[in-house]
Amino acid sequence: MVFAIEARQLTKIYDGKTKALDGVDLQVNPAEVFAFLGPNGSGKTTLMRILTTQFRPTSGEAYNFGLDVVQSGAEVRKIIGYVPQETSVWADISGFENLLIYSKIYGVPSSRRKKSIEDALQSMGLEEMANRMVKTYSGGMVRRLEIACALLVKPKILFLDEPTIGLDPSARKAVWENLTSFKREYSTTVFFNTHYMDEADIYSDEIAIINKGKIVKSGTPSQLKHSLRSEILQFHSNHFHSNHNGIDENILRNIRDLAFVRDVVLCDSKLDVFVEDGEFALPLIIEALRSEGVSIERISATRPTLDDVFLKYVGTLSFGRGGK
Ligand SMILES: Nc1ncnc2c1ncn2[C@@H]1O[C@H](COP(=O)(O)OP(=O)(O)O)[C@@H](O)[C@H]1O
Ligand SMILES: [Mg+2]
Repeated sequence: MVFAIEARQLTKIYDGKTKALDGVDLQVNPAEVFAFLGPNGSGKTTLMRILTTQFRPTSGEAYNFGLDVVQSGAEVRKIIGYVPQETSVWADISGFENLLIYSKIYGVPSSRRKKSIEDALQSMGLEEMANRMVKTYSGGMVRRLEIACALLVKPKILFLDEPTIGLDPSARKAVWENLTSFKREYSTTVFFNTHYMDEADIYSDEIAIINKGKIVKSGTPSQLKHSLRSEILQFHSNHFHSNHNGIDENILRNIRDLAFVRDVVLCDSKLDVFVEDGEFALPLIIEALRSEGVSIERISATRPTLDDVFLKYVGTLSFGRGGK
């Protein structure tokens, strides 16, 4: 099977000194939504610019549907759409006029232009806005228009650099709902950069986390979260409370001694048990507590989030603002 996107040992050194990418290997399946996650300056835009034929790699190779991004740039550009992080539409004309200009830039034949523009407007939910000046649009509508421009050619791969940066949650949701339905209809591969982890978690099939030009972790959102191998099961019981100081040490020891338990912390009437797999551990811990005569009032579970995954592999959650 040919990958939608493949990179092999891709390296980019700017001006002979800044190593922006350091041996990136990447495989993206067709019709997949792939999130490329990393802090500012980690190399996200550099990779996207290479994959979209705007920059040449210093070494290594990259392919879109088997087409070499360096050797076959013109062919690659025919099958991809790209939305840069910076604004890419004109504010003093209407959405429709922007689409008309882009359809000419992309060489959409005049006989097909009207239909392409209608489809693109519809895909991004902008039909009613089409004839309004772009300067009257909200930030979310501008973003949807920019994406609509990239959809005019019905690309096989859509590249989006920080597609929802600076948008409020409802505008972000609107962008993704439109993208998701477009993707479903046309089986487009979507590759996006982001530093919003919730977005990567909800909307992507696969994630790669990049730090300082190297991919430090990749997998499905669920695989990444499970890779931390930690869930916290919390057991609430008055038994703990009433025995606050004199809690039967045996109980704690017995729980701690269970092979799959990594740690146990007692705090007031709550017992936190750290385990690798909560579903597996839960019934066994309940049974162990019951056999010690502990009646459980309530159980809750805390699963790791992608934030936790990011913290582990990148070591910081501070992204700053604006991206690069
Ligand atoms: N055109 C350029 N010339 C020189 N250095 C650059 C250029 N573009 C990016 N860089 C540097 O390469 C590194 C990666 O940047 P970039 O790919 O923009 O990261 P990100 O998109 O993750 O914020 C940074 O250190 C940045 O300063
Ligand atoms: Mg960037």
